[in-house]
Amino acid sequence: MWAGWWLWALVAACAGQTYRQKAETIMQTTPVIDGHNDLPWQLLKMFNNQLHTGADLNTLAGTHTNIAKLRAGLVGAQFWSAYVPCDTQNKDAVKRTLEQIDVIHRMCQAYPETFMCVTSSTEIEQAFKEGKVASLVGVEGGHSIDSSLGVLRALYHLGMRYMTLTHSCNTPWADNWLVDTGEDEAESQGLSEFGKRVVREMNRLGVMIDLAHVSVATMKAALQVSSAPVIFSHSSAYHLCAHKRNVPDDVLQLVNATRSLVMVNFYSDYVSCSKQATLSQVADHLDYIKKVAGAQAVGFGGDYDGVTRLPEGLEDVSKYPDLVAELLRRNWTEEEVKGVLAENLLRVFREVEQVKNLSRFPEEEPIPQNMLGGSCRTQYGYSGAPGRFPGPGALLASLLLSWHLL
Ligand SMILES: *[C@@H]1O[C@H](CO)[C@@H](O)[C@H](O)[C@H]1NC(C)=O
Ligand SMILES: *[C@@H]1O[C@H](CO)[C@@H](O)[C@H](O)[C@H]1NC(C)=O
Ligand SMILES: *[C@@H]1O[C@H](CO)[C@@H](O)[C@H](O)[C@H]1NC(C)=O
Ligand SMILES: [Zn+2]
Repeated sequence: MWAGWWLWALVAACAGQTYRQKAETIMQTTPVIDGHNDLPWQLLKMFNNQLHTGADLNTLAGTHTNIAKLRAGLVGAQFWSAYVPCDTQNKDAVKRTLEQIDVIHRMCQAYPETFMCVTSSTEIEQAFKEGKVASLVGVEGGHSIDSSLGVLRALYHLGMRYMTLTHSCNTPWADNWLVDTGEDEAESQGLSEFGKRVVREMNRLGVMIDLAHVSVATMKAALQVSSAPVIFSHSSAYHLCAHKRNVPDDVLQLVNATRSLVMVNFYSDYVSCSKQATLSQVADHLDYIKKVAGAQAVGFGGDYDGVTRLPEGLEDVSKYPDLVAELLRRNWTEEEVKGVLAENLLRVFREVEQVKNLSRFPEEEPIPQNMLGGSCRTQYGYSGAPGRFPGPGALLASLLLSWHLL
């Protein structure tokens, strides 16, 4: 009987190790490209963006992300989030966004043996070959452009390669997911005419359109207008957890039809609709999106350092190989696994780069006469829609939301 037990234990241990080892072998050449990580926000909160005298990213504690954990997790590329809270809208959003992009660039400068700031799909592959973590800028929230196509273009020149159309607030030109919970009112019924021009200008520049955080109407409008595939940089499946931040089935169909990508968010509340979740439940989301939209439509968008609760087994960025092992255990093929790790994002990015056409004339928007004087503070979006200062309800909501980013 003891011999039997030992044999069973041995077989179980070996089988487990086989999946994990196979995961690591695949990830040596096809490492993780993660869609969304909020370390730059932690750097602001914990160190006021001081890298030289403040944060040591090798050993950083109290965060989900540091260099040792990225290495253990076989992360080969990261879209770092340049996030500024919604209460900066119509105030200092643009300046604060520039500062978050700057801290990402300084990360690359301070740790050149680890991070390589890049802006294209071929450079991501180059970073893979050099064993560096390709670092890209994702701007989280359309409020960061202050309704200005000029600002959008300038952010592109600073390296922005995706922009989330909204965070958890409407912009004057796009509605956010809180419209679908009834907490916010629809203002643009998806995208306003100006919002559609923003999407077209992103196509022209070769900036990926990110539909995490937007309302379902905005998702559908953007999928309709965009001439390139889009991403959800950190969203999960609504069918498995009916949270309005997740992607509903009819949109998953459109994701397949447009060759787009859903990078699954690991935040416990979006995975299980409760405060507790497991690695296996995250794999359920990956399985489900694969079933409904196809294996080419799935990716990882962990939302590390932007959330307060993570599933058991996915506590920090070192854990991706365990999730990949679970997919192998569920009979995902090597090709499907490479897809979720990196190839799907690379495919979308390449298509976005092909649609890009800087020879086309830029979308232009005249600056309103009343703003050509000495104004130093934005009162009106250039879209003609009045910029809104948050009312007391919105202020309270943003205070409640501000301690974690969702
Ligand atoms: C995705 O779309 C393709 C092409 O239209 C179709 O052949 C395929 O069955 C779809 N995949 C799923 C999982 O529905
Ligand atoms: C994986 O495939 C094997 C062999 O075909 C099968 O026995 C097993 O049940 C499958 N596992 C899952 C989770 O589908
Ligand atoms: C880019 O746009 C220009 C001007 O509209 C057009 O002439 C050219 O054919 C376009 N190129 C591609 C590759 O679409
Ligand atoms: Zn977010």
